[in-house]
Amino acid sequence: MTASDLIARLDAERGAADEAIRAARSAAEVEELDRRFLGKASVAASVKEQIKGLDTADRPGVGKALNEFRTAVEALLQGERERRAGGDGDRLGSERIDVTLPGRGPTRGHLHLVTQVQRELEDLFVGFGYRVAEGPEVETDWNNFGALNIPEAHPARSMWDTLYVRLGEPEQVLLRTHTSPMQIRVMQAQEPPVYIVMPGRCYRKETLDARHSPMFHQIEGLVVDRGITFGDLAGTIEAFTEAYFGAGHHARLRPSYFPFTEPSAEFEVTCIFCEGSGCGTCSQSGWIELGGCGMVDPNVFTAVGYDPEEWSGFAFGFGLERMAMIRFGIDHIKTFYENDVRFLSQF
Ligand code: DAH
Repeated sequence: MTASDLIARLDAERGAADEAIRAARSAAEVEELDRRFLGKASVAASVKEQIKGLDTADRPGVGKALNEFRTAVEALLQGERERRAGGDGDRLGSERIDVTLPGRGPTRGHLHLVTQVQRELEDLFVGFGYRVAEGPEVETDWNNFGALNIPEAHPARSMWDTLYVRLGEPEQVLLRTHTSPMQIRVMQAQEPPVYIVMPGRCYRKETLDARHSPMFHQIEGLVVDRGITFGDLAGTIEAFTEAYFGAGHHARLRPSYFPFTEPSAEFEVTCIFCEGSGCGTCSQSGWIELGGCGMVDPNVFTAVGYDPEEWSGFAFGFGLERMAMIRFGIDHIKTFYENDVRFLSQF
């Protein structure tokens, strides 16, 4: 090859190097191009070999062209390396992706609906002058049944499907089936007068259906004082119904039976769905049953050492889930315990 052929080859190679280095996609590719354009098998290396075969007069010109080629390619490679290392913000700038905004922030939780209902009722009764007490979920047969005027083997026990705990004598320790044993605990711990509400978990050997769950919550109320009458009970139920469900909602009492109260009643509240005019949910009656209540049976007072001649009182108890279902139109009790945020976040 002549000197001018070699110089032309170097020119062409320089164009190729320029293009290839600018298009490099990785640091490894840049090093690969270094070998391709400047290494042992490169055009530059071959030109260098061939200089030796040229006329002495032609050598400096080709030598100079070769030096220029090397300098130029090295500069390109160096520039690319620096850009990759962050020295030149060109590509980093143009390919930059902003991962800081807007993002998905952590969602904030809140109290479970049952807890909200419980606290609202507690506040309401505290406003009436009551105290709040909580007690154990594992109870004795005596507190859950015996002291509440439900003797062993009495048919009334079948009102509560009981889950027993393997502790002590057989069938003497159980998961409380209602919050009523708290009446016993409170009366054993203090002298009258008593104005108290007692919320908490209860358990029954029950198959899950739309309205029953083996675990649920109740709130119990107990008032003991001198001269307490059924009128006080009715007035208290009416007052709390109006305060909780809103003006225009009323309560009514219907005769019923509970071993620990005499007389006993079920209390119903104005159907929230039809506002009392009658609908499918309330079986056209305009009323929905909420809980039980009555005047404390003298046998219960005797069991805790209160004198039934001196004191009288009333008690009531109802389910918190049921309360929430009525107030918010929830049709299945299981939704409280499935932990589905689509349900929970609505309240
Ligand atoms: N403990 C009853 C139950 O779970 C509800 C109840 C009825 C509570 C009458 C009371 C009451 O305090 O007086 O079915």
